[in-house]
Amino acid sequence: MKEAISIAHPNFALVKYWGKNDTEENQPAMSSVSVTIDSLISKTKISEKSSSKYLKWSLNGREQNDLSRILPTINYLSNLYGTENNIQIESSNNFPTAAGLASSASGIASLVTAFERYYDLHLTMEEKIKACILGSGSAPRSLLGGFVLMNHLDHFRCSQILERSEWHLNILVCITSNDEKNISSRDAMEISRKTSPNYEEWLDINSLHIKQAIRYIKAKDLLGLGKVAEENCDFMHKVINSSVPSITYKNRMTEMCIETVKQLRDRGHQLFYTVDAGPQVKIICEQKTSKIIKDAILRQAIVPQIIDASIGMPPQSL
Ligand code: PMV
Repeated sequence: MKEAISIAHPNFALVKYWGKNDTEENQPAMSSVSVTIDSLISKTKISEKSSSKYLKWSLNGREQNDLSRILPTINYLSNLYGTENNIQIESSNNFPTAAGLASSASGIASLVTAFERYYDLHLTMEEKIKACILGSGSAPRSLLGGFVLMNHLDHFRCSQILERSEWHLNILVCITSNDEKNISSRDAMEISRKTSPNYEEWLDINSLHIKQAIRYIKAKDLLGLGKVAEENCDFMHKVINSSVPSITYKNRMTEMCIETVKQLRDRGHQLFYTVDAGPQVKIICEQKTSKIIKDAILRQAIVPQIIDASIGMPPQSL
């Protein structure tokens, strides 16, 4: 039976996008910079369908009745290449889904990669980016490994700032809750765009943060990058909180982890935090101090689980 299996990794934004300039096309209103994460994996298997349904999709073993998260991507690609799509798509993640760990980005990037392989297409980078964006505004960044810039002023072109092998960093993913978020980032960022009094300022600060982050990544300056990334993260959460109605993704454990990161930095360690649309705290640190930092957080019993990760690679077909 014909089948294709591909994997992709999520990416965590260091300069984040929050807000769309086109909701139909799902296009971000700003540029972003991210790092791809290695030990978190989304896997997509596409095979000939065995039931009479035109398209079947399961996520983590559960058949999905609502295909709206994957259909724009599938429809775009099949309109381009005339594929018929009598297929079964099985997606799974080895980490909590829809919990602020960018599972939609890696899920969509692995879907596009598996679709290309299944139909033996030779997609251009522009086509892959468009296909990814239709599913998740941050997914194109998962098409590359290492540190990635997605430029909204250049058709969302993604470029690598540094290869994974060029800077040996670790990422500690502090899982404060496995629950799915109560509002999707797609819905929440629309509310922010329409109601937050801080949204205009958030748009204005983007190009400065992008420039600073690129400079610090190229210079491998962890403290410099941390300063920009934390400022950017705090600003995004201010925009989210100041939306009407107010939205909150962080919980008490999130705040405690952030406090611990600051204390460890005051003691001379090089590390910084970032938090996306969910309560998990991602700590970026030097490989040599990763164990000390992990032990310090576990000792204070702040979080029940920490996933160890390093910088990841682009998607792969198995
Ligand atoms: O990929 P989306 O459209 O679900 O949005 C992701 C938004 C953030 O993760 C909060 C920020 C980002 O740039 O990844």
